[in-house]
Amino acid sequence: MPESVYAESLASAAQPHPQLHSRLQLTRLLADSGSNQTQADQGLQVIQGLSKTPKTLPAQYFYDDRGSLLFEQICELPEYYPTRTETAILQAYAPAIATLTGSCELVELGSGSSTKTRLLLDAYSQMGPTPWYCPIDVSGGILEQSAITLLQDYPTLNIHGYVGTYEAALAALAQPQLPTRMICFLGSTLGNLNPQECQAFFDQLTRSLQPGEYLLLGVDLQKSPQQLEAAYNDSQGITAAFNLNMLRHLNWRFQGNFQLDNFEHLAVYNAAEHQIEMHLQSLSAQQAKLAALDLTLEFEQGETIRTEISRKFDLTTLQQQLQQQPAQAQPGTTKRLQPLQTWTDANHWFGLILCQCQRG
Ligand code: AVJ
Repeated sequence: MPESVYAESLASAAQPHPQLHSRLQLTRLLADSGSNQTQADQGLQVIQGLSKTPKTLPAQYFYDDRGSLLFEQICELPEYYPTRTETAILQAYAPAIATLTGSCELVELGSGSSTKTRLLLDAYSQMGPTPWYCPIDVSGGILEQSAITLLQDYPTLNIHGYVGTYEAALAALAQPQLPTRMICFLGSTLGNLNPQECQAFFDQLTRSLQPGEYLLLGVDLQKSPQQLEAAYNDSQGITAAFNLNMLRHLNWRFQGNFQLDNFEHLAVYNAAEHQIEMHLQSLSAQQAKLAALDLTLEFEQGETIRTEISRKFDLTTLQQQLQQQPAQAQPGTTKRLQPLQTWTDANHWFGLILCQCQRG
């Protein structure tokens, strides 16, 4: 769907329900038009990635409104097991998670359609009269649309959404409205971070949490390369469209001229690194420009841009890594993420880890 059509459908969805807006607050930390004013730092990441050999792009650029809709379609694919597996785990254990933490404000990184979050909201709605939800997403359209639908379905829910990157939103988070808070990072989006980025990210999460507060992490687990490669090379070509859409997004956001039909989707499992790697492969020698970034690119035939790594985890190793690096709070005090409990499915395809931020 083109951006403008989506925006109109949002406007008309918002208008018949003015009373919902007293329970909705949106903070925009990212421009959602082609304007490149507030994009300076992100543009920098694009320039840096495309100037490397081999070329890379940040996975966050998958998620313009169209990309977020394509991702919703991926989640429904028969080959793409993670979403339905994580949903089943949440269906079984969301009440147990809520009982362990007690009433708390839910902050979700990469909330998208918030479909799985409903299972947590159902459980937490039982725990207190006015549940609070803070979705964070770079895709403003899907965030606003999902927030409005949630407010209709949960009559006492309050939402404060943040349109922006995780880093910016975590830094901008308002004071919690409930005594405690749980940051939810579901869907194995953690897998997009390499080990160093992952450690830095845990550090930032630890700094964002007060002692006693929680982190709920959903991660995809190691399994056969055949099953993994099938999940990223679906027979309907939705993953290919999702991958190619990143170039359309860059064309729009940075006034580019990538020829989408001159690139092809590739997804391979790197067994040594335990990660799926998605690429866009240039079908010919070609040039592309991103005018807003003053960037001209040369591609050889067969050259690829790596658009995503999707790491597959070992639950035990990840639990150890979580505990390892204490983040500096105030001088002399440290905090760390203590894993409390993990849940998985009968096949061990996907895992959930509940951690608590603790002193020392
Ligand atoms: C949202 C990053 C978890 O890595 O499986 C799906 C994105 N890429 N198909 C994943 C994705 C291709 C997804 N994450």
